[in-house]
Amino acid sequence: MLHGKTILITGASSGIGAAAAKLFAEAGANLVLAARRKERLEEVRASLPEAANRIAIFAGDVTDPEFSKASVDVAIETFGGLDGAFNNAGTLGDMGPVSEMNLDTWNHVVATNLTSAFLAAKYQVPAMRTVGGGSIVFTSTFVGHTIGLPGMAAYAAAKAGLIGLTQVLAVEHGAENIRVNALLPGGTKTEMAGDDPAFHEYIAGLHALKRMAQPEEIARAAMFLLSDAGSFVTGAAMLCDGGNSITKA
Ligand SMILES: NC(=O)c1ccc[n+]([C@@H]2O[C@H](COP(=O)([O-])OP(=O)(O)OC[C@H]3O[C@@H](n4cnc5c(N)ncnc54)[C@H](OP(=O)(O)O)[C@@H]3O)[C@@H](O)[C@H]2O)c1
Repeated sequence: MLHGKTILITGASSGIGAAAAKLFAEAGANLVLAARRKERLEEVRASLPEAANRIAIFAGDVTDPEFSKASVDVAIETFGGLDGAFNNAGTLGDMGPVSEMNLDTWNHVVATNLTSAFLAAKYQVPAMRTVGGGSIVFTSTFVGHTIGLPGMAAYAAAKAGLIGLTQVLAVEHGAENIRVNALLPGGTKTEMAGDDPAFHEYIAGLHALKRMAQPEEIARAAMFLLSDAGSFVTGAAMLCDGGNSITKA
């Protein structure tokens, strides 16, 4: 589905991004793997098929205004262009009620989850235009879209903001064959979800499937959106949430 395509993945050092790296590599994509932890990116690359030829690494911080241009440049210099971007890096930040949340926490969470997406699109769209089109996916969440969870105001606001950004980008660039979608995973077993069994059980209970997702299940939805399998999908807030949104009991 992604054979010969060049895809940038942020947040590729663990969880959903690392699972996407494996899936996309197996599908024959050229990859630029990005995150802050370079050693972890090297480990992910070493675990992939034909790693040496088709996988570039870019260690950087998505809150750095230079990150997006530099990561796109790696794709162009290494593989000759950019066909898709899975803008997936994210953070919960320090959680707590709004009345006790300091402005630095708010700004950090918004910078990581939302402002990074604006910067990503700013450089990814022109690169995709030069190759005749492309697909951009932002990892949003069910939190702040179908459910409010206490302590997660900055995260919810930033991730919901991604949906608005997605819709505007989709109409701005649809005629250029650039599709833009938000992917809304349900609770997924990654570092972000921690390893407390009681918390996992609580989160699992929020879903119709009564379990959390494996990161590979979310990566498959991202691959659908990034590939021609999703060729008529744009501007969507696509739930991949195990029925979280329709579960009230
Ligand atoms: N797990 C869930 O239940 C769940 C549910 C819905 C949505 N999501 C979203 O899914 C995405 C992936 O999260 P995950 O669940 O796979 O958790 P994860 O394993 O903790 O992965 C988060 C990734 O984001 C990267 N990252 C964080 N801050 C960054 C920064 N400032 N600059 C560059 N990279 C940064 C991390 O890499 P470094 O630390 O190496 O930089 C890591 O690769 C996130 O956007 C998250 O909000 C997760």
